[in-house]
Amino acid sequence: MIQGKWFAPGDDLSDLLPVRETVFGLSADAQDAESWNVLVLSDSVPVATGRIWWQDGSFWLGGIGVLEEYRRRHLGDLVLRLLLYKAQSHSAREVRLVCPGNLTGFFSRLGLQEQPGSSPDSVEMMIPGDRIDLDTCSRCPKQNCPNRQPC
Ligand SMILES: CC(C)(COP(=O)(O)OP(=O)(O)OC[C@H]1O[C@@H](n2cnc3c(N)ncnc32)[C@H](O)[C@@H]1OP(=O)(O)O)[C@@H](O)C(=O)NCCC(=O)NCCS
Repeated sequence: MIQGKWFAPGDDLSDLLPVRETVFGLSADAQDAESWNVLVLSDSVPVATGRIWWQDGSFWLGGIGVLEEYRRRHLGDLVLRLLLYKAQSHSAREVRLVCPGNLTGFFSRLGLQEQPGSSPDSVEMMIPGDRIDLDTCSRCPKQNCPNRQPC
């Protein structure tokens, strides 16, 4: 079973930090005091994480990572969707993140766009809050799927 768990700013992150440490080699930091962190568990095992915070008029996403042995199972996609949903539910004006150039395709799938002035190692991406679309059907090419709602 896949579960998502939110941690408010100031919460104990001890369930989540081993995932961050394994993926990024990073522990808790000052940003956690300002962030909502999310943890995804697979059969009660912590496997993926990410965080969101507000700064200078934008919501920022960071630390999105999945343990290597759990990648390519749409768990990174789930973390990204949970974070975008959090931004949407706070009426975000815009959501930003910085990622390596080889990951822009992962983030552009959900509408984040590369910003001018980025370098290949560090690409800033942004989506206006009113462009966040978490409807899985809207980007799916299967027109005859029974899950698709009639217009
Ligand atoms: C990036 C990362 C979070 C992706 O997680 P994941 O669970 O393997 O990805 P998912 O299975 O959810 O992928 C969802 C979709 O994105 C696609 N995708 C994954 N990585 C991609 C990439 N680098 N470029 C383009 N598309 C990508 C998948 O093919 C999949 O497509 P589909 O819906 O057509 O099947 C994971 O590779 C990771 O933890 N990387 C190391 C940490 C890191 O660099 N994080 C980013 C910091 S900004």
